[in-house]
Amino acid sequence: MTKVRKAVFPVAGLGTRFLPATKSIPKEMLPLVDRPLIQYAVDEARAAGIEEFLFITSPGKAALESYFGAVPLLEHQLAQAGKASALETLAMARLPEGCASFIRQDSPLGLGHAIALAERWVGDDAFAVILPDDVVLSETPALAQMVEAHRRLGCHMVATEHVPADRISAYGVVDIEQAYGSVQRVRGLVEKPAAHEAPSAFGIVGRYILQPSVFAHLRKGTRGSGGEIQLTDAIAADLAQTGVAGFAFEGTRYDCGSVPGFVDATVAFAQARADIAPKLAQAAKDHVYKAA
Ligand code: G1P
Repeated sequence: MTKVRKAVFPVAGLGTRFLPATKSIPKEMLPLVDRPLIQYAVDEARAAGIEEFLFITSPGKAALESYFGAVPLLEHQLAQAGKASALETLAMARLPEGCASFIRQDSPLGLGHAIALAERWVGDDAFAVILPDDVVLSETPALAQMVEAHRRLGCHMVATEHVPADRISAYGVVDIEQAYGSVQRVRGLVEKPAAHEAPSAFGIVGRYILQPSVFAHLRKGTRGSGGEIQLTDAIAADLAQTGVAGFAFEGTRYDCGSVPGFVDATVAFAQARADIAPKLAQAAKDHVYKAA
């Protein structure tokens, strides 16, 4: 089994739920505690051994490209001022030269269309897809858990989580033939089914390890749910040939594509930080007191 070395990050979305902030900055640059959302996605990829990063962008996302590049003047100024820890923080937000690529998705035809644009860049090996809106708080980073399981499987893999019935229609949903611990043998996938038609209670979370055979189906450009080209449909179409496993990862996933989800994630990630948690606990007490 070859190593998963490449990851694709679809970041072309408009972020309309976060207007007016997203009028002039991409939503992936909104800070969760003190790091932009995209940093969490890239850190998770790196922790899973990813070495090459492709961002599928859209007009208005230039800040993302700058973010991962060098800032020689600032670096020089910080070095002169002896600000070692600020320099270290800057280094974290930098990808090695030649490792980050950017492709523009000019027409918003859906997630499947965004991934289809990665075909030439991906080449012949399995690759990861990370949707930065889905942020996972876990002991072991979610993608690293999947990469480990993928070594033994070699088929398409989608991360899954148990979703309450009243929210299942917002997800791609897997039809599970059998579960072996956290690995689920999948016999079907459907994008955003009506709640009463959902084949299981397991929704797809934005982490995938895909075989390049998925591109033959994406290339067809078949429209699915919402009139968009859906990644879920292409994976389903390739099921007979390549096989699909669901993976119920350990950890909690936050939907940072919505404002309430982002706020929820902010509290959870702040609580997980030893330098912030005590202040947060105090603030929570104060707020309860004020509310009473
Ligand atoms: C996308 C996928 C969907 C998946 C979801 C997870 O949907 O199409 O299958 O369940 O991400 O976040 P979106 O939320 O972009 O509509």
